Amino acid sequence: MKIGVLTSGGDCPGLNAVIRAIGLYITENLPDAELLGIPDGYGGLIRGEFFPLKREDFADILNLGGTILGTSRQPFKQMTRPAEDGTSRLKKMVDNYRKSRLDCLFVLGGAGTHKNAALLSAEGCHVIGLPKTIDNDIYGTDMTFGFQTAVEVAVEAIDRIRTTAESHLRTMLIEVMGNKAGWLALHAGIAGGADVILLPEIPFSPDAVVEKVLRNREQGERFSLIVVAEGAFLSDEAGLKKKERQFVRKERGESTVTPHLAEILEERTGIETRATVLGYLQRGGTPSAYDRFLASRFGGEAARLCAAGHFGVTVALNGGNVVYNALSDIAGRDKPVDPKGEAVRFARDIGIFFGTK
Ligand code: F6P
Repeated sequence: MKIGVLTSGGDCPGLNAVIRAIGLYITENLPDAELLGIPDGYGGLIRGEFFPLKREDFADILNLGGTILGTSRQPFKQMTRPAEDGTSRLKKMVDNYRKSRLDCLFVLGGAGTHKNAALLSAEGCHVIGLPKTIDNDIYGTDMTFGFQTAVEVAVEAIDRIRTTAESHLRTMLIEVMGNKAGWLALHAGIAGGADVILLPEIPFSPDAVVEKVLRNREQGERFSLIVVAEGAFLSDEAGLKKKERQFVRKERGESTVTPHLAEILEERTGIETRATVLGYLQRGGTPSAYDRFLASRFGGEAARLCAAGHFGVTVALNGGNVVYNALSDIAGRDKPVDPKGEAVRFARDIGIFFGTK
């Protein structure tokens, strides 16, 4: 039996822990199987590159950040289009899958990776997905691996910013990742004790945020903490397409709403305001214990599906249990924060402000 594994899309903590779990399952349960690494995501499959993964390559990588396989982004739209040589990337991948005589391919990735996995599966390749991303926005799973580590990193940063905010009587904006979905901002904001959380799912009014910061000061608060998801936007921009919003930002020399909001707040509240962008700190480094556990669990369960000949699925967490969903069911669907959901509701109930009047 020949089993391939690749990691695709933006990296996150826990990818190596999954590779290790798959490798250890195979060592323990399928001793005749050969595990092949594919470098740089779907890029390696398109080029037809495979290399053997031996026990010594994966046995000791549980706590290692990043991915030992390397990764890349391969936009879904380009998969079926003919490349320069006239052959589509999808056809190259399918041909290389067949040429290398793979029996199963594990793909570790986010929403885009799963869309491409569904394409491969529809072409008859035996694919099993594993849901990674610090954004936690994959449809059909309560949790993706990598998310909890990013929450921990963001909360530690918020805790540190809190003390300097208090010393200087400042308003602090902390921008976290999350372009389309605000899960990271929501969880880190609640766990970090933010006064305001701004999400892509809830367009905000800057006037309302100004009022909230002034109210905080009137109530004797020495500082305000505002957690902003990188994809948050003003309610005035709600009618614009994402590309149009990006254009407006570019014109201002900015890539997110954070610097613009910081400027408005300082000008209109008279309170010194600073912004910190956490950026790739949230994606790099060692996975938390939770993510090592979840990654090991997902990896082991996915390998068990492979041994049972169950393909065309992705593993998922549902109400505490590991389940699996058909790739064709989840591909192209997303999992935004529900503005009327339980987490936003209880956060509002305990006084967290989401920037709406
Ligand atoms: O991994 C997902 C994500 O972190 C998004 O939240 C973010 O917008 C994006 O990756 C940025 O990734 P890159 O700059 O690597 O394309």
